[in-house]
Amino acid sequence: MLKGKTIVLGVCGGIAAYKAVELLRLYKKAGADLHVIMTAAAQKFVTPLTFQTLSGNPVHTELFDLFQGHEIGHISLADRADLLVVAPATANLIGKVANGIADDLLSTTIMATRAPVIFAPAMNTNMLENPVYCSNQARLETFGYRFIEPSTGDLACGWQGKGKLPDPAQLFSNSLTSLYPADLSNETFLITAGPTREEIDPVRYLSNYSSGKMGYAIARAAAERGAKVVLISGPTALDPPRGVETLYVVSAQQMNGAVLERAHEATVVIKAAAVADYRPLIRADGKVKKEGQETWSLELEKNPDILATLGQMGLKALLVGFAAETDDLIGNARKKLEKKNVDLIVANDVSRVDAGFEADTNAVRLLFRDGSEEELPLLPKSAVANILLDRIKTLCDA
Ligand code: CTP
Repeated sequence: MLKGKTIVLGVCGGIAAYKAVELLRLYKKAGADLHVIMTAAAQKFVTPLTFQTLSGNPVHTELFDLFQGHEIGHISLADRADLLVVAPATANLIGKVANGIADDLLSTTIMATRAPVIFAPAMNTNMLENPVYCSNQARLETFGYRFIEPSTGDLACGWQGKGKLPDPAQLFSNSLTSLYPADLSNETFLITAGPTREEIDPVRYLSNYSSGKMGYAIARAAAERGAKVVLISGPTALDPPRGVETLYVVSAQQMNGAVLERAHEATVVIKAAAVADYRPLIRADGKVKKEGQETWSLELEKNPDILATLGQMGLKALLVGFAAETDDLIGNARKKLEKKNVDLIVANDVSRVDAGFEADTNAVRLLFRDGSEEELPLLPKSAVANILLDRIKTLCDA
């Protein structure tokens, strides 16, 4: 997805510098050409050799040793970049850039580039809340520099609070939006995510292992790319994605009702939810007691197949389904594509631990109505989401 893109990764000196290594690997895996600039302090935490080995390019550290042929190093890096990401970004670097100081390779390259620049600050909570720092960040934001909000937790300095560098997968997906234009602003997405719960009695239910992460990642990425997004979510532990209208349901029947109510607005429907296929025929009003019952047989009845219903409705919207399989991935997924009359199926081998329900990564195959297929490597769910949206955009534009 990042083939042909050049990313300059700036690394400042901070304990979180090790996370930049993983971030670099994610960019590389997605096909980007990576060039790393390290400040002097960064080299105290991670060696340039680590970044050089993983990026496959020389690591840049000095302002004045970069005359390659006729090119001035920092200018050529600045010119070549499609995106410049600084992770971790220290208060010192942010302060320098905000005040026009360019006294090392990283601050000079930031000053010289016309590419989007993203800072991912990581520092002690008190530094982050210091009015001097705050005004430097605000000043840069008014000039169009982007900031990725630090997360909250245990800080290396012993404090608890805001200031941690977010996880590399989160930095990766968040930064991608600066490379993509708002190319989905004409689309309205209806996305379902998470499991459904089918109540047996007031204290018990039937459900599945879906975490909702894949559907939420798609909703977040679509909103970041300018789409209007309605997310219908089963019970999950996830925060609602920013800029998305999120509606919560519990059972398959509730999800069915919500989807049918909103489907007519959508130009794209993505059914990423793991809908429970059956529900108890009878839901007990009181807690079922175990006394006198050595075994318990539950009679189940079928839930509505929401995707199949949409497929029969002849909606104008592009219809995308998921297929969660443990056996014969492609055969079963293709059957679902035809039977449910959808345009695209995302086939998911849920027996793998690094893909499927609870993982942060996913490895899927995309099966298209015209019989073609595309296999994606193991990627963060955010990257899978963006590639899926690329393919959906192509289908919408056709
Ligand atoms: N789906 C749905 N309503 C259901 C069951 C599934 O809308 N009652 C949708 C899912 O959201 C997914 C697709 O259908 O997009 C396939 O779901 P999956 O669970 O893989 O397959 P099922 O159709 O339920 O078939 P089976 O459980 O037999 O594999």
